[in-house]
Amino acid sequence: MAELFKNKLVFNIAETASTNDYFSKLPGDTPEGSVVYTLNQTQGRGLGLNRWESEPNKNLTFSILLRPRFLKAFEQFYLLKVIAIAVADFISIYTDKVSIKWPNDIYVSEKKIAGILIENSIDRDFIKQSVVGIGVNINQKLFYSDAPDPVSLTQVTHQEYDIEQCLQTVLDGIEKQYSLLVARDFKSIDSKYMSLLFRFNVLAKYFAKGKIFTGTIVAVEPTGELIIVDNEGTTRHFLFKEVSFMV
Ligand code: BTN
Repeated sequence: MAELFKNKLVFNIAETASTNDYFSKLPGDTPEGSVVYTLNQTQGRGLGLNRWESEPNKNLTFSILLRPRFLKAFEQFYLLKVIAIAVADFISIYTDKVSIKWPNDIYVSEKKIAGILIENSIDRDFIKQSVVGIGVNINQKLFYSDAPDPVSLTQVTHQEYDIEQCLQTVLDGIEKQYSLLVARDFKSIDSKYMSLLFRFNVLAKYFAKGKIFTGTIVAVEPTGELIIVDNEGTTRHFLFKEVSFMV
């Protein structure tokens, strides 16, 4: 097992509302790298008010406790980047056309296969603790929630996967990417993230401030802001939820 997770606690919980929330039941000195994992997450949370649907025994739903105290609060988007890269790399073992839809949804073609919910506690200017929640649709064949365009690995490849084996593989990848963050190798992280970015340098339609516009994603700022140059040549900056991708 990867070093970050070696000899650390793996809580394999039969059923829980949300693996992210489970950490609040654990002592404050729970070691970094501890993982809460369940095959039955009953009230999975997504970004904002979104819910995360996961049929029992079919998918990966887990959370990791990290303490990236070397990261300044304004650098927190880099944690999100390395986790998104690790999850995208994991999916890429089994299929192609994998991308990261800004800021951190994992897509296969035009459909969402995985979501990431990172909850940071900040102490003055530094990150004190992060709960990194990851949901990957693995063996689920039907989706019932109103989440837009969900897809699972089995729907893409028509194979079934061992969920615990998937957990080990994705943790190994997270360890690898996290070590780049520890080394503050922001250049490598940026170039990998941009190489995986959905619609990077592609003309497409977006919706912001009540209007549809056509534009091209040209960059993502270190703070996480998305930069789109619209078809009038104006460079526009967007924070999360300020712009939607249109089909
Ligand atoms: C999103 O795309 O909106 C983020 C979804 C994150 C889902 C995962 S599943 C494990 C962890 N526990 C939760 O309640 N949410 C995250």
